[in-house]
Amino acid sequence: MEAELLKDLAQKDIENSLLYARGKGWDHTELVGLLTSLGLEGYLQTENFKMEELVLTPEGTTYLELGSPEAQVVKFLTSSGKVTQDVLMSNLGNIGKIGFAQAMKNKWIAIEKDTKLVNITTQEIQDAVQISLKAISNGEASKDLESLKKRKLVENAKRGYCKVTKGPNFREVRVKGEADITYELLKTEKWKTAVFKDYNFDALGKDPEGGHLHPLLKVRAQLRRILLEMGFEEMPTNNFVESSFWNFDSLFQPQSHPARDAHDTFFLKDPISSANSDPEYVQRVKTMHESGDETSIGWNYNWSLQEAEKNILRTHTTAVSSRMLYKLAQEGFRPKKYFSIDRVFRNENLDATHLAEFHQIEGVIADRGLGLGDLMGVIQEFFRRMGITNIKFKPAYNPYTEPSLEIFGYHPILKKWTEIGNSGIFRPEMLKPMGLPEDVAVIAWGLSLERPTMIQYGLDNIRDLFGSKADLNYIRNNPVCRFNS
Ligand code: PHE
Repeated sequence: MEAELLKDLAQKDIENSLLYARGKGWDHTELVGLLTSLGLEGYLQTENFKMEELVLTPEGTTYLELGSPEAQVVKFLTSSGKVTQDVLMSNLGNIGKIGFAQAMKNKWIAIEKDTKLVNITTQEIQDAVQISLKAISNGEASKDLESLKKRKLVENAKRGYCKVTKGPNFREVRVKGEADITYELLKTEKWKTAVFKDYNFDALGKDPEGGHLHPLLKVRAQLRRILLEMGFEEMPTNNFVESSFWNFDSLFQPQSHPARDAHDTFFLKDPISSANSDPEYVQRVKTMHESGDETSIGWNYNWSLQEAEKNILRTHTTAVSSRMLYKLAQEGFRPKKYFSIDRVFRNENLDATHLAEFHQIEGVIADRGLGLGDLMGVIQEFFRRMGITNIKFKPAYNPYTEPSLEIFGYHPILKKWTEIGNSGIFRPEMLKPMGLPEDVAVIAWGLSLERPTMIQYGLDNIRDLFGSKADLNYIRNNPVCRFNS
């Protein structure tokens, strides 16, 4: 097609691509595809037009093949002999109805007076309708056009076609253009004579391969939804670097606590420390650590400001909860439900279930008169919405909560109880220096995001999920997360 087209175009313009394609017996759509491709390389130019064309309707097409209804009636009567009108109709149906009327008009048939049977009056008929349909389908003129249109056997159709002229890069033989300068072209100096394709600015780009959500983010999205639906508002967790003050001291965690050791916590070298902007609050925290108040004996040691000001990578999101509770006390207490889901850092020995950075989910409720029942109830409801209905609590210890409860969930696949979270009621030694009213209790719970994600996705090694050894294909092809709640 391409060779013949270029040869023809070298001789003269192609006025009408549709008629040209028909003349060659080619498919017009295929020709248009070739014209587009040659047009892009400047071989030719096209200009689009529309034309009206007479075409047969589906009904006209069947008559072209089988003859007009009136001819079909005559044909039937020729082989059957004279019959009643009813027999004619029951054999030919609708064709019989239309054909009977037309054949009567043409005087090709008649109804016998005495017998009332339909019979032919002539052996030789000329099916003018079929002849005209044939002429029209060949693009020839026909004098019966109007009556055929009235009988809805022929109609006008709009057709798109184009006029084809030579383009600026016209050649009689197509040379495959180079898309890029290559090493090969430079080395062989073929670039000097090579034909280069023009840029096609309309070409669609490659689908970007990035932009896949990590399974942790999918689970996070679900958990965020659950917490929002339960009426929690999200805390700002955008600072990975915290002062030890917010991460530990404000939580009434003593400075000698083993978690504050460099073996467990990452300390920053630069900037090495940061000061708190509320010296009075810092003083109240210091006093609480050193000597307590009328209801607590404190931790009984010399509290060091320098130690509290050391910058670290936050070891838990409870540092953010602490900041938020302090802020709430300054703004004037209102009951609040807060949550956060973000990254924390611990100086861990890396193994199948531990990484030095992971994510925590934390929920905090501050209100008057909250108790242990509220804590257990809200945790039960939270896990129920994650599809975990079988949970148990076990007394535990945290420096900043009393009582503290570890949360265990029954793992239906592992068939055993596994720890799924930690919780408690924040100690008055933490809340009082903040300035929260004495009858306000704050209940809170926390868990890792990795644990439910690994359960949800059936993983047993955290390194398959997160970090430099995670398989990117696995991350890309992961299904969405939906909890069975
Ligand atoms: N901060 C605790 C942890 O890192 C979790 C926790 C949050 C416990 C809130 C009690 C209350 O494990």
